[in-house]
Amino acid sequence: MNMVSYEPYVTEDGRTIGDAVMELRNITLRFGGVVAIKDISFDIREGEIRAIIGPNGAGKSSMLNVISGFYTPTEGEVWFEGGKRPPMRPYQVARQGIARTFQNIALFSGMSTLDNIMTGRITRMKSSLAAQALWWGRAQREETEHREAVEKIIDFLEIQHIRKTPVGRLPYGLQKRVELGRALAAEPRLLLLDEPMAGMNVEEKEDMSRFILDVNDEFGTTIVLIEHDMGVVMDLSDRVVVMDYGKKIGDGPPDEVRRNQDVIDAYLGVSHD
Ligand SMILES: Nc1ncnc2c1ncn2[C@@H]1O[C@H](COP(=O)(O)OP(=O)(O)OP(=O)(O)O)[C@@H](O)[C@H]1O
Ligand SMILES: [Mg+2]
Repeated sequence: MNMVSYEPYVTEDGRTIGDAVMELRNITLRFGGVVAIKDISFDIREGEIRAIIGPNGAGKSSMLNVISGFYTPTEGEVWFEGGKRPPMRPYQVARQGIARTFQNIALFSGMSTLDNIMTGRITRMKSSLAAQALWWGRAQREETEHREAVEKIIDFLEIQHIRKTPVGRLPYGLQKRVELGRALAAEPRLLLLDEPMAGMNVEEKEDMSRFILDVNDEFGTTIVLIEHDMGVVMDLSDRVVVMDYGKKIGDGPPDEVRRNQDVIDAYLGVSHD
């Protein structure tokens, strides 16, 4: 794989982080008169948990939407795995190994946990729908393979007890977990999480934190995490990008960012929920 080369990056807890998987170069995003992102550059390295923080309206979700191909930046370049990415539809980006969860849960509420997670396999399905309908050899093999992958995720996220439950009936915290499961079903190289712990109680946050760390550890998945809870950000992330009014005002390891005066100022007197 042809990636941009950097000096290895050693994190605060002593882990070595690899080359850049993605580089955002001078990204600007405008909606009519609103400038959601102003000339922001940063990289995301193989194996790291990269947090994006900032007050409400700072442009965090917009940035995630640029990475996932939901928005095409007005200016700037997205480099992925060493190559400049042409404008792409979100499904094309997904096929490149980038999966996401949404700030507002996006699940099929009438469908079971199992079936919702199965929808995450779509980007990996090769056989035509027709072949699958006729249950021919290859489609049958694929079906078994997808079912096994989904069952593994259900075990991993400890949600066996709700596998048949329609997700609309689940408490919010579990719905967020199912949504993580749907993203994991795509077996992404890069996982984008937009406030995966918003609205959760302390115990639910602890569970979700553990799953995020386990995904990173066990599957080696690179993760971009938007989160308002600073305790969570400090615990989980290797490096943090700080945004405010569409600009980047900080970028570095959690300890460094926490001492940055611009960051402290941006967070004074603002609501984070
Ligand atoms: N589709 C859109 N059309 C017009 N303006 C938009 C659109 N999406 C975002 N914006 C604007 O861009 C700015 C950044 O919004 P964004 O949702 O990225 O912020 P955020 O940092 O994720 O905030 P929050 O913490 O509240 O989720 C805001 O001023 C928002 O109103
Ligand atoms: Mg947002």
